[in-house]
Amino acid sequence: MNIAANPVVEADQTVYLKDYQKPSFTVESIDLDISVYDDHTRVTSTLKMQRQTDGELILLGRDLELKSISLNGKKLTESEYGLDEEQLTIAQAPDQVTITTEVIIHPETNTMLEGLYKAGDLYVTQNEPEGFRKITFYPDRPDVLSVFTTRVEADKKYPVLLANGNLLETGEAENNRHYAIWQDPTKKPSYLFACVVGDLAVLKDRYTTSEGRDVALEIYAIEKDIPKCHIAMQALKHSMQWDEEHYGRAYDLDNYMIVAVSQFNMGAMENKGLNIFNTSCVLADEEYTTDAAIMRVQSVIAHEYFHNWTGNRITCRDWFQLCLKEGLTVFRDQSFSEDLQSSAVQRIDDVAVLKAHQFPEDSGPLSHPPRPDHFVEINNFYTATVYEKGAEINRMMSTLLGKEKFRKGTDEYFRRHDGQAVTVEDWVAALTAGSGVDLSAFLKWYNQPGTPKLEAKGEYDASTQSYRLSFKQSLKAHSKYPDLKAVPIPVALALFNAKTGEQYTLQSDALFENNVKDGVYLFDQDEASITFTGVTEKPVVSLLRNFSAPVNLEFNYSDEELAFLLRYETSGFNQWQATQTLLERILLDGHDANVYIDAVKQTLPDVIVKDPLLASRLFDVPTEGYLGSRVDENYQPAVIHEDRESLLDTLARGLGDFCKETYLSLDPDTQKDFSQAMGVRALKNIMLGFIARQGDTSVFDLAYSQYQTTENMSERLGALRVLVWNDAPQAQEVLQDFYNRFKDEALSLDQWFMVQAAHPNATETTIKHLISHTDYDLGTPNRIRAVSGGLNANPVNTWSFGVDHFLDLAKFLDEKNPIVGSRLLQVLTRWYTLAEPQRSEVKQKLEALKAQVKSKNVSETLNSMLSV
Ligand code: BES
Ligand code: ZN
Repeated sequence: MNIAANPVVEADQTVYLKDYQKPSFTVESIDLDISVYDDHTRVTSTLKMQRQTDGELILLGRDLELKSISLNGKKLTESEYGLDEEQLTIAQAPDQVTITTEVIIHPETNTMLEGLYKAGDLYVTQNEPEGFRKITFYPDRPDVLSVFTTRVEADKKYPVLLANGNLLETGEAENNRHYAIWQDPTKKPSYLFACVVGDLAVLKDRYTTSEGRDVALEIYAIEKDIPKCHIAMQALKHSMQWDEEHYGRAYDLDNYMIVAVSQFNMGAMENKGLNIFNTSCVLADEEYTTDAAIMRVQSVIAHEYFHNWTGNRITCRDWFQLCLKEGLTVFRDQSFSEDLQSSAVQRIDDVAVLKAHQFPEDSGPLSHPPRPDHFVEINNFYTATVYEKGAEINRMMSTLLGKEKFRKGTDEYFRRHDGQAVTVEDWVAALTAGSGVDLSAFLKWYNQPGTPKLEAKGEYDASTQSYRLSFKQSLKAHSKYPDLKAVPIPVALALFNAKTGEQYTLQSDALFENNVKDGVYLFDQDEASITFTGVTEKPVVSLLRNFSAPVNLEFNYSDEELAFLLRYETSGFNQWQATQTLLERILLDGHDANVYIDAVKQTLPDVIVKDPLLASRLFDVPTEGYLGSRVDENYQPAVIHEDRESLLDTLARGLGDFCKETYLSLDPDTQKDFSQAMGVRALKNIMLGFIARQGDTSVFDLAYSQYQTTENMSERLGALRVLVWNDAPQAQEVLQDFYNRFKDEALSLDQWFMVQAAHPNATETTIKHLISHTDYDLGTPNRIRAVSGGLNANPVNTWSFGVDHFLDLAKFLDEKNPIVGSRLLQVLTRWYTLAEPQRSEVKQKLEALKAQVKSKNVSETLNSMLSV
């Protein structure tokens, strides 16, 4: 049997949604036997299959060395089945078959981190979306659900043997080996199969569900990381309770296991009852990881837990429906996190991610609908659009319905579809039936690419005391999706009395649903208008409150109106939104910075006391990357850099003594909870940056002392950043100190790499130096991302020496780890907006790379990137 490498992309490798066909056979049960040896692993599987429709029996398999195959107890010879690089076919199979295959695989040399692979001394699996076919022959598609029984056998040097479900039996085997047999009682698709073999310690806890089930909770990690698992454990219990309260969903097995692995392509994976996590998304400890990382751990724990109902119990019919499970689960984890910390800040951070990643993706050559209708490599579609825009679609429907009706809708979804593999249409239909509100128009959001432009105009008529708002929506044309239609846009809005700052009670003439506490106008035409009455003074309108729809709003605000909103808006998110619009105008349209500075100075003292984290976000100056993504041609990273730097200098000057006073007056150690303390730390670090800009060299002493006296990573890193990025006299000393302290702590060391790569004046030499460091490792995606992510914090660097860095990585990873290679390459997506001659130079390099790569992942990405 040949072991196929990645075949070169051919034109006919595109898969289309319209070609979906039911599988010809179901799998009633699968018995797996996985025997791990140092230089190979033997997998024997027995499938009991039942015919459903006419057609061949197809088992998918890749890179498998087939040792034997038998059908209903009889060995098959090579002439009795077909075998190629992708699949094994049996032309005329009986209606009921038991098929046993025996294959050899090589986790010990698997660098793609897909299927069964070895991470250090730990064997783990990653099977979503199509990894299971690298473990055994199987109809590896999400609409084939089966009961899995798994026997895992290995040398006793690996004491931990895990698989999904309940542990049925353990025992001794020959040659100092042992085994464990697990059975998962719930039917599941193969992408949710997991197995782990290694030497790990475990943190244990318990949770009793609302249905009275006593669940054993276990987090597995290497011994020294166990103390860093407590926050994740708390978050897990909290998530279990949250899903019971908010969605009426209780956990369904007697155990829930999480395994931490240091080499992982993604953040984490929701395998049934046996989640596998990138260490970066499960280990959390104030001494070793940042506040942001700690928040992320909690939301990823929640996310993977929530998949148990939205993803596992109800799964996707095919991979085009990916946003059914991901969009919904992201919406659920965002809502969970809003309950965890300042809800305004959670929404701010989620919208910032949406605008910084999804909007640019949706405006360039990689643009696609949340539910695409074709792909070459499904791994390329775990995108910001599928995840983040998918989440926004659910949020819009939930905003429109309000809590109660949305809950009726989700109840109906679980009632109808538990145990099934379904589509986006099924989801919207269940929500509609359960809530009694027709949501079918929202399907257009799932099927169309692009960020709608929402143009709004306001007119006040003093004589009738009325205010008329008119709206217009439009989408940019897309060659592959020509038939674009108006989408339903819930516009949350408020009117404020411009004189008093008071909010009007809304009275209007049109269809208007006054749900929750905000007014939400459903705009679903190409153009429409609405008139408000009883508006006694010229109002200031606040539009798209809480970012009620993922659109680009164009409204002719004056800077003074935005400053007004910063002052009078009643929620932190809306205040932040006003600052962002103001700052964007200053940066992209050359407006005066003083309006912003005065407004912030006036608003801040109050906010600092109430919500220091929110206060810190009011200083969010849009990043160079985001600003660059708003430029569609003649993009000059250096110009944006200069403009942004000069704004920051202006802010620092304008804020004056406020910076040092604020820095000195705040103490994270006396705050009432983690969220407040985190806010104070964020604010102090921002102030350090401003003080440095003020040219006050005492800042280095402040930073040095913050670095030395703290035991908290956010404080230590904040200080390190200021020292390193400003080339302070103490910079080398603290870098060396940081290395000595954390050289055995991979996640902390990632930060050490990141800080240096993100130095604004980093050069090719800086990066070369980092990637030739003994602790740099191309087999560990976290480490690669630390350096390349740091580098990409400065687009001027990305688009100069960074281009070769990313192209070299893509080329290397094309063979070793194409999933990660394809993702990193996407950093260069907006090459076509560059000013000449850079544009042509980068284009040429991309074309040269295209001729050299083999993987579907990297080829498809390159093809799309070059299709502008
Ligand atoms: N199902 C995914 C993990 C996954 C993604 C597996 C792509 C295979 C390919 C998981 O539920 C997920 O979405 N993880 C996210 C984090 C989450 C908080 C959005 C991730 O890994 O980035
Ligand atoms: Zn997910």
